[in-house]
Amino acid sequence: MAEFFEIEGGKKLKGDIEVRGSKNGALAILAATLLTSQPLVIKNLPLLGDVLVMLEILKNLGAQINWLDERTVKIQAKDLKTQAEDKLVRKIRASILIAGPLLARKGELKIAKPGGCHIGVRGLDTHFEGFQETGVFLEKEEGEKYHLKAPKVFQPTKVVLNEFSVTATENLMMFFAGQDLENEIHLAASEPHIQELGEFLKEMGAEIEGLGTHTIKIRGKKNLKGVEHSIWPDYIEAGTFFSLAASTKSNLKIKNVPVEFLEMVFRSLKKMGVSYRIEGQSVFIEGENSKLVGAKIQTLPYPGFPTDLQAPFAVLGTQSAGTTLIFDTLFEGRFKYVDELNQMGAKITVCDPHRILIVGPTPLSGAKIKSYDLRAGATLIIAALTASGKSQLAGADEVDRGYEKIEERLQKIGAEIKRVSIE
Ligand code: EPU
Repeated sequence: MAEFFEIEGGKKLKGDIEVRGSKNGALAILAATLLTSQPLVIKNLPLLGDVLVMLEILKNLGAQINWLDERTVKIQAKDLKTQAEDKLVRKIRASILIAGPLLARKGELKIAKPGGCHIGVRGLDTHFEGFQETGVFLEKEEGEKYHLKAPKVFQPTKVVLNEFSVTATENLMMFFAGQDLENEIHLAASEPHIQELGEFLKEMGAEIEGLGTHTIKIRGKKNLKGVEHSIWPDYIEAGTFFSLAASTKSNLKIKNVPVEFLEMVFRSLKKMGVSYRIEGQSVFIEGENSKLVGAKIQTLPYPGFPTDLQAPFAVLGTQSAGTTLIFDTLFEGRFKYVDELNQMGAKITVCDPHRILIVGPTPLSGAKIKSYDLRAGATLIIAALTASGKSQLAGADEVDRGYEKIEERLQKIGAEIKRVSIE
């Protein structure tokens, strides 16, 4: 059954909205629970499509999953299989994160090529080459499947990644956390969810140095222990709500914001004339008083401006005076939303696969639009709420992969948005 969102835009939003647990943090932490046979309790899980699929993958591998309350699960992976069902693995790209823990625990795994967002050429080379540098043997099998085998005896290794890949860094961190040796990862990514995974592995008993930098040293342990952990709030969801408030020229209080991870995003808000206040973990966006102006936004690995926020900030660009250049240095397929925004009245030129130029301000009007990936979906919701008139946004399932019950949370701050199912 397909679902779409029906949105009546042009109204100011008001009140407060709370940021949920981090999607990408939760995905890595759930995979890491496979590293021990002891029970773990994970709290503050965001109830998202991708997270629920990851839990199914863990279950399929043999882990016991018990929900303790709405957002808390107890996970115990006593006995594990070395292969999860292909159809589950193909649902999300993050399923590749089971590789590191399974190699550490079982010494091998077979895995189908993971699926996920259509946002560019995202190979698995950085993962595989990283594992191979540690002596892991990789064989490609028929039907786009991979067989990975760890060496019988581990040697301390210094792996230099091809690029600052987020999930490849996480995979190697988990692999190394299960080994009684000291290993190093160079050119490691340092996103907040990597820091969170590192803190979690430390809680489980690994010794880790260099979290938040691009060189991580890990002395792992064969017998990691079961712990309790609460997922950190999602800095990407927080940034999405900043754009929502500023684009719709609303005054909103965004609660539970991990402000320490958003330095570059705050700098961009400032450059674009968005007026805001930070009080503890709450951010007040004063959209009514903001005088929006265009600016250059360049995405970079953390601590740079996050690629996951360039699309939501493009809507802000359409409401800003002058030109906004968005330069996504990471992905080459993340501008599919531009056609949809232009259909709504935006003036955006795609310069090349990595750059777009927005001329503003332009009024937006409601249209029939479609989201191709989850960040584009959130972006088009912001655009539809900014626009005058009615929009129909197809691809609600894409939005559900990354944002929990978005329509219910937006209704509470005055948005006219409803989910419609079609047979
Ligand atoms: N890349 C570069 N240069 C770099 C680093 C990366 O060009 O220095 C390119 C890569 O070639 C690749 C792309 O950027 O095409 C993404 O790289 P990465 O391997 O880091 O991505 P990922 O690990 O597959 C994670 C998140 C993504 C997020 C990216 C970038 C998870 C489960 N996924 O993906 O999240 O966009 O890092 O921060 O953690 C999302 O939440 O919507 C999402 C797609």
